Amino acid sequence: MDAFKYKDGWLYAEGVCVEELALKHGTPLYIYSRGHLQDQHRALASAMRAVKPLICFSVKTNTNAAVINTFAKLGAGADVVSGGELYRAIRAGIPASKIVFAGVGKTVADIEYALKQDIRFFTVESEPELERISKCARRLRRKARIALRVNPDVDPQTHKYISTGKKENKFGLDLGRAMKAYELAARLPNLEIVGLHMHIGSQILSSAPYTHALHKVEKLCRQLKAKYPTFRVLDMGGGLGISYKPSQDPLDAKHFADIVVPFLKRLEMDVVMEPGRFLVGNAGILVTRIQYVKNGPSKKFVIVDAGMNDLIRPPLYQAHHEVIPVAKTRGTFMADVVGPICESGDFFALDRHLPKVKADDLLAILSAGAYSFSMASNYNSRGRAAEVMVSGRKAALIRTRETWADLARGEKLPRL
Ligand code: LLP
Repeated sequence: MDAFKYKDGWLYAEGVCVEELALKHGTPLYIYSRGHLQDQHRALASAMRAVKPLICFSVKTNTNAAVINTFAKLGAGADVVSGGELYRAIRAGIPASKIVFAGVGKTVADIEYALKQDIRFFTVESEPELERISKCARRLRRKARIALRVNPDVDPQTHKYISTGKKENKFGLDLGRAMKAYELAARLPNLEIVGLHMHIGSQILSSAPYTHALHKVEKLCRQLKAKYPTFRVLDMGGGLGISYKPSQDPLDAKHFADIVVPFLKRLEMDVVMEPGRFLVGNAGILVTRIQYVKNGPSKKFVIVDAGMNDLIRPPLYQAHHEVIPVAKTRGTFMADVVGPICESGDFFALDRHLPKVKADDLLAILSAGAYSFSMASNYNSRGRAAEVMVSGRKAALIRTRETWADLARGEKLPRL
């Protein structure tokens, strides 16, 4: 489903007029299409059905309860990276038995909470972490199921900040050391070895890095299967890329499946996947109102009411997001689209051919469903935006806009 389309010159989110939502809820405003979330989940589940993967939505991409709950209703699990995400996933209706917990720095509190909730398994990134999980499990008289995260040292051909499976990255254990780490896990009390995990990076647009990584871990998987009867899960992580530009081809689920499924079938293991961006990236837009159009000495600036605190991807990763008008206009001009924040890095687009817009017009920043609201901050004491979900002709507010009082919540004047 292409969830955001023009009808009679006006942008619609499914069957709902975007301008009406902006008038009702104000701007900046995130809008998500439930239909697109469902379609993406179905496309992946159906492409991969020969190996019946457990699809664990990577909650870091979009933490709104309504989004997580949409996937819960489709039978998905969750991939979490903190106690907070685990709390959100459970609260939004994902059974703990379908939640996997990753991350290089799990605290004792995180681990104990996850053990009490009896999550599916921990993906473990180092030997000291194995020891810590074992200790916590022993103290709580529980068994911790674990999958070691291996770092296959492949280049996912993506931005360096979001590449995670190269040897210089902090993630996982290198293949050479993995067997020893499994032997340690087998010796430590209260641990059960259930599988192997890898996650090589994000916004990956070809299947090649996956097949490369799978080939690299195949031998180890076979050895582990032979050695540990409880070893049965291959968690392939996430990373499937989406299209951020009309010219960019997303990683097609069917094509991806055609390449990896035969390999997975041969391996005869239970498959877990942790997609994030693929499920939510193009399900969301950020709607923002133009405050001023300013003519600088060498450039034109379209100054909008959203800022890098709402969506930090362009300055952080040089990420491209399409910017389109909510009401179609005639003509174009070249400009930077910038926010109100006191930083030159506060931009959404640089030197972009834009439709000829003016102050008070609405713009939509596309592909803002993943790593957008979830990476928002309160910098410059700006409350975080409201979020709305649409389904067909219906729309619902799924998070209220933060108020100034929210900004100061929890602060106290000291009595020193
Ligand atoms: N599993 C693990 C262990 C991960 O670390 C991640 C993402 C995922 C799954 C989901 O990856 P996805 O399917 O969404 O590519 N903030 C960056 C992306 C950071 C990715 C972090 N890990 C961005 O805005 O591009």
